[in-house]
Amino acid sequence: STLSFVLGTRPEIIKLSPVIRACQRREIPFSIVHTGQHYSEKLDSVFFEQLGLPAPEYNLTIGSSSHGEQTGRMVVEIESVLEKERPDVVLVQGDTNSVLAGTIAATKLDPILVGHVEAGLRSFDRDMPEEVNRRLADHAADYLFPPTETARDQLLEEGLPAEWMTITGNTIVDAVTENTSIAHERSDVLSEFGVRERFALLTAHRAENVDDRERFASLIDSVAAAVRKHDLSVVYPIHPRAEKRISTLDIDVPEEITLVEPQDFLDFLVLEDEAEIVFTDSGGVQEESCILRTPCVTLRDNTERPETIAVGANRIVGVERASVVNGVREMLAVEPDWKNPFGDGTAAEQILDALEYE
Ligand code: UD1
Ligand code: UDP
Repeated sequence: STLSFVLGTRPEIIKLSPVIRACQRREIPFSIVHTGQHYSEKLDSVFFEQLGLPAPEYNLTIGSSSHGEQTGRMVVEIESVLEKERPDVVLVQGDTNSVLAGTIAATKLDPILVGHVEAGLRSFDRDMPEEVNRRLADHAADYLFPPTETARDQLLEEGLPAEWMTITGNTIVDAVTENTSIAHERSDVLSEFGVRERFALLTAHRAENVDDRERFASLIDSVAAAVRKHDLSVVYPIHPRAEKRISTLDIDVPEEITLVEPQDFLDFLVLEDEAEIVFTDSGGVQEESCILRTPCVTLRDNTERPETIAVGANRIVGVERASVVNGVREMLAVEPDWKNPFGDGTAAEQILDALEYE
């Protein structure tokens, strides 16, 4: 095939779905190589079904392990698939270990070129595994698709050539635009698990937040304290990493917070759209709440999505109680009339144009 997609986790499946579907429309021959980094039905196959994606040609079933082992095994397996497939271009998206592995395997196989979708994001926090992955991917890629000018400027700052870059907007806008009205038609998530009229949505799964007992406990306590002041309940679709930590670290979840399974994309979009406020440490969820004009507070000390802060859609609040409570009060008072900074929903088409596929 001409083009291979290497992907492995929930956000990559969602954010590459518009590009895959655009390939189908243009009849570009492509293959999908799934690393198997995510394998639980609710993090993986549910999105293939719901987003109308073809089954991956290759599933490498790598699964979970330490960073080195997981990434290394992926590199070996991806290399052997690419030697067989011989695509012109490999596309990767984002900052996971699957992205790093796809990039390493492809860049070392001549003449295969690598395109990095969502290039140029920086949290400037090198303790985050994602920051390391995205920096390495950007510096090995041949085509760079920064979503915004801010991301493009960062790549220029790091000495990468402007000719390799195309600002496309973020493919998440394409995915949200294609799916939001369908979501409101089809989803009955609001009648499930006793969601109140006025509720908040929480997602938290980042290693630095949930792997440390004190920090995770503080995060949960702060969210509960903040919503108590506004008479909101909280729905927390819980990522398996966080779910495991709740039991192994013995985290107490107060009654304000209802834990539910990871949601499919349509149900999750409805929750994001209808919530009074979103609490998150997710990258994609900061973008989506901004696009859907739901105020967001980010339970981290930094963000690689500064555009959401600049337009007034998001605030960095960390996990300390006073700061979360203040941030929520401020964001609930904001008129959500900001402009989406992530483009016009044609990112997928612009990526294929830049790759010169008719
Ligand atoms: C990964 C990404 C993170 C991204 C997230 C999206 C890296 C370094 N991290 O984090 O950037 O935000 O995906 O959701 O690539 N598990 C399951 N079922 C699964 C997958 C994982 O139960 O299908 C559990 C396992 O206990 C595993 C843990 O979650 O050990 C962590 O999985 P892993 O893929 O290592 O990282 P994520 O936390 O999912
Ligand atoms: N998402 C979902 N169901 C959920 C939680 C998240 O469909 O229960 C979607 C969400 O809409 C977004 C993506 O998953 O598009 C974000 O993935 P995640 O938070 O796992 O990773 P990150 O964006 O932080 O890398």
